[in-house]
Amino acid sequence: MVFARLALAFSVAQGVLACGGHDHSHAQRAYPPTKLRPPTRPLDWGDFNVLHTTDTHGWLLGHQKESWPEPNYSGDLGDLASFLVHMKRIAEEKDVDLLVVDSGDIHDGTGITDGFPPGGVDGHDANEFIKQIPYDIMAIGNHELYHYGYTLDMYRNFAPDLNGRYLSSNVNITVFGENNETINVPVGERVAKFRTRKGRRVTSFGVLFDFTGNDDNTTVQTVEDMVKEDWFVDAIQEEPDVFLLVGHMPVNEDNWPLLDGRSMALQSGRYMETLGWMSANLNENDSDNITFSRRYLDPNRVTYQFHTLTSNDTFDSEEGTTITQGLLDLADQYDLDHLYGTAPMDYTVNRVPYPSNSSLLSLYISEAAPLVLGANNTANSTLPALFLTNSNAQRFDLYKGPFTENDRLSLSPYIQSWMYVPEVEYGLAKQVLDIINADDSDNRRRGMDDQERVLFGVGCDAQVDNRYRAWLRDVVARTYAERERELRWDADDELSIGYVTYDSCPGVGDDTEHEPIPSYPVPVAIQSKVTLNGTILDGVTDDTLIDFVVVAFNADQVAETLNSIVGEDRFSVRGAYSPVLSNELLGFYAQMAWN
Ligand SMILES: *[C@@H]1O[C@H](CO)[C@@H](O)[C@H](O)[C@H]1NC(C)=O
Ligand SMILES: *[C@@H]1O[C@H](CO)[C@@H](O)[C@H](O)[C@H]1NC(C)=O
Ligand SMILES: *[C@@H]1O[C@H](CO)[C@@H](O)[C@H](O)[C@H]1NC(C)=O
Ligand SMILES: *[C@@H]1O[C@H](CO)[C@@H](O)[C@H](O)[C@H]1NC(C)=O
Ligand SMILES: *[C@@H]1O[C@H](CO)[C@@H](O)[C@H](O)[C@H]1NC(C)=O
Ligand SMILES: *[C@@H]1O[C@H](CO)[C@@H](O)[C@H](O)[C@H]1NC(C)=O
Ligand SMILES: *[C@@H]1O[C@H](CO)[C@@H](O)[C@H](O)[C@H]1NC(C)=O
Ligand SMILES: *[C@@H]1O[C@H](CO)[C@@H](O)[C@H](O)[C@H]1NC(C)=O
Ligand SMILES: *[C@@H]1O[C@H](CO)[C@@H](O)[C@H](O)[C@H]1NC(C)=O
Ligand SMILES: *[C@@H]1O[C@H](CO)[C@@H](O)[C@H](O)[C@H]1NC(C)=O
Ligand SMILES: *[C@@H]1O[C@H](CO)[C@@H](O)[C@H](O)[C@H]1NC(C)=O
Repeated sequence: MVFARLALAFSVAQGVLACGGHDHSHAQRAYPPTKLRPPTRPLDWGDFNVLHTTDTHGWLLGHQKESWPEPNYSGDLGDLASFLVHMKRIAEEKDVDLLVVDSGDIHDGTGITDGFPPGGVDGHDANEFIKQIPYDIMAIGNHELYHYGYTLDMYRNFAPDLNGRYLSSNVNITVFGENNETINVPVGERVAKFRTRKGRRVTSFGVLFDFTGNDDNTTVQTVEDMVKEDWFVDAIQEEPDVFLLVGHMPVNEDNWPLLDGRSMALQSGRYMETLGWMSANLNENDSDNITFSRRYLDPNRVTYQFHTLTSNDTFDSEEGTTITQGLLDLADQYDLDHLYGTAPMDYTVNRVPYPSNSSLLSLYISEAAPLVLGANNTANSTLPALFLTNSNAQRFDLYKGPFTENDRLSLSPYIQSWMYVPEVEYGLAKQVLDIINADDSDNRRRGMDDQERVLFGVGCDAQVDNRYRAWLRDVVARTYAERERELRWDADDELSIGYVTYDSCPGVGDDTEHEPIPSYPVPVAIQSKVTLNGTILDGVTDDTLIDFVVVAFNADQVAETLNSIVGEDRFSVRGAYSPVLSNELLGFYAQMAWN
């Protein structure tokens, strides 16, 4: 009997695996500019092949900006659907298996999920298009669990349409049963057993890491406890040809099972920025190690056409164009093309140092907050102000060009009000930022407690972001080191920036060669200068009285820090400084500054 174990995991194309073990408006649908570089080589097909998406987070319309590397990720969900039509046809011609798998987090991320009208549910409409992708297995992610309403929607309206292939092996939801009794049931299925087109028997589980930020009436069981359950022990009694473990958890952390010579793990990328490919020849000698191959693809039409030997004219399928049109209609319905202003340049979260002129964090706290909150200061304070926020307030880069409702929703996920601590001597206020940033652990702890819900679980996301950025920095260092030793291509090849993956498999895994994306560390909290009516105030002294304006998440922390500096209870949070919410700020700013 042939036996293999495959594991697919979420998060960035983080190549540390074991081998076995790695704008749009209707008029301007972003077809890739001709300058897109095609992949370096055809895919290595085996007799068993897998395509993997993860953490799509609403990026179903693809990346639509013209600044690099965005065009590389310009393929939308309709393009993916067309790609899969061709890939399935090729698999049939080759008479091999091709599975399509997703490992979760289909909520929270762009306007197409988060731009729902009042009374709606995040992702409910977008999910109708995801359902049309011929996924063989999908697994649940933590972003399906921050709000009971999302989980219930997955349970009622999504999982049933996947015909037993939506997996939540360690995640339950509490609902009312037929007799209105409270029942606790898996959101999807705990296990899926099926045969592939070629008749291989597959047993699959979908597990979530030990996540604790889930909403009431949802349950996450630790993986450790899950494997002791009777149903699990029963499920693995019968040995299939392939165990397919789909984990919403990083491969090299969180106690993944050890991988041997007949297993392989693949970790693809987030936000539709990477499509993972894995292939294996399972028909070889049963007792030998299995030969696997993997590739990390840039999702765009050039990549898709290259690998399916199609042209721009023959590529589109009816399924694909229907999905694309449906998504565009949804964007229209959500008014995602609403234009706030036109950004003069790119502002990125961590591709440039903070503070700097093209840092989005600098723009947000030093320009946008003083201007917008200063102009809409319903506290009616006449004092100068100092603005502070947690840097996680910004989740994605802001690119040159139209700044639309979709961009606003994609960039700033957390909905926070701006509070203030009034009448603080600047001499005291100026000490706070360093204290907060030095005590990172305190900040994290705060991120993990009751505030976390409010912030859609910023604690967990911050950890993911930190891992992601540390990984990017590591890749940059390693690429430069390999260039020194002439092991890697050189920068003068005019490579575009993009992901560079190092993993434990032989050879290069990236389908297209890239210049690695630079990554700079960002502080936990960021702060403006002292401003009055949106303009930097000159002549500030330690005696100058200011309003300390802070997002609700950090407000108590700032007041407590001030009190601990003076050694008495002198400062407290007064209330709202402005009705503008943290996620509305950039929209107002674009309106005021970029028109
Ligand atoms: C969710 O939990 C609360 C508190 O335990 C309970 O009152 C409510 O009925 C639950 N909802 C469902 C759908 O079970
Ligand atoms: C079911 O139970 C809930 C809470 O216990 C209650 O609010 C609701 O009215 C009940 N529904 C029916 C149909 O009995
Ligand atoms: C999940 O639901 C199943 C089926 O109702 C139940 O047997 C199991 O104990 C639940 N697991 C958890 C962790 O609540
Ligand atoms: C098989 O794989 C294991 C684990 O990766 C490795 O230690 C071993 O050397 C491999 N055996 C052969 C014959 O390649
Ligand atoms: C499979 O490999 C084993 C160990 O290498 C060898 O003894 C056996 O003859 C091989 N079987 C076939 C069918 O090649
Ligand atoms: C590719 O095809 C699309 C859809 O048919 C079309 O809108 C676009 O202009 C074409 N692009 C090129 C470069 O031919
Ligand atoms: C940053 O912007 C300021 C103000 O517009 C300008 O004076 C400065 O030269 C810029 N610095 C860089 C490095 O572009
Ligand atoms: C600020 O002024 C506005 C307009 O006069 C008023 O409606 C509002 O209540 C005032 N806010 C406070 C906190 O006094
Ligand atoms: C990614 O972008 C760069 C330009 O920055 C381009 O050279 C490269 O070919 C692109 N990759 C793909 C697969 O389109
Ligand atoms: C700030 O703006 C308000 C309203 O535009 C104005 O009344 C006030 O005088 C300004 N303050 C200063 C110091 O310019
Ligand atoms: C102030 O902010 C509120 C809330 O976002 C908004 O409704 C209002 O239009 C803003 N007022 C001005 C003058 O910008």
